[in-house]
Amino acid sequence: MPLPTIPIVRFSPDLSPTEGACRFFEVMNRRRSVREFSDRPVAPEVIEWIVRSAGTAPSGAHKQPWRFVAVSDPALKREIRVAAEAEEREFYERRATPEWLADLEPLGTDWHKPFLETAPWLIVVFKLAKTDDGCGVYYTNESVGIACGLLLAAIHHAGLSALTHTPSPMGFLAKILGRPPNERPFLLIPVGYPADGCRVPDLARKPLEEILAWNRPAASTHQ
Ligand SMILES: Cc1cc2nc3c(=O)[nH]c(=O)nc-3n(C[C@H](O)[C@H](O)[C@H](O)COP(=O)(O)O)c2cc1C
Repeated sequence: MPLPTIPIVRFSPDLSPTEGACRFFEVMNRRRSVREFSDRPVAPEVIEWIVRSAGTAPSGAHKQPWRFVAVSDPALKREIRVAAEAEEREFYERRATPEWLADLEPLGTDWHKPFLETAPWLIVVFKLAKTDDGCGVYYTNESVGIACGLLLAAIHHAGLSALTHTPSPMGFLAKILGRPPNERPFLLIPVGYPADGCRVPDLARKPLEEILAWNRPAASTHQ
């Protein structure tokens, strides 16, 4: 049975679409992944608003297959750091291919993750393999990926910083946080203010011409 319908409530900024899109780009273009956090506190209500934004994401058949676990307890953060560093050490010293290590070298990362204790919050994102009442979910990775994009945008818009962290395999997160079997770890996102004097790699983003194509090439051979 289809749901009843309601009129769309549009977001109408007092700007032309070009100005609105351009302003949003200017905000998002300043987002950077941060690996040195301050221990300056962030109120839980900020986390609540950020997660509400993530929860506005579209999802396959509107199953909303995500859960965000906000961690501030120092003992839990410590446990997560110890387990993450064990996986990361294994990765950097054994599991990573030479090509992968070479790709990471410009970022200057290694297995030490002090920020997992310094940042006031860790948001651990889980994807649901089944809904909480055991029903199917669809396009889970796409749905949770979009929700995480909105989460990162909301963190940035709040004037805070984050890191998209993947200390894989991430099974330890479900164990430490006592999550039910239908929840699978997806991302580990420290959130807070950058440390005083925090620096980030001077990387370049692909120019528009490399990431945007229009219609199809004139001499396309694709059928
Ligand atoms: C799916 C994904 C996984 C990532 N995993 C890690 C990670 O485990 N550790 C880390 O330091 N950075 C990680 N990053 C951050 C990237 O290195 C970073 O986004 C990239 O260097 C671009 O920098 P920027 O986010 O400042 O634009 C990850 C990013 C993504 C999207």
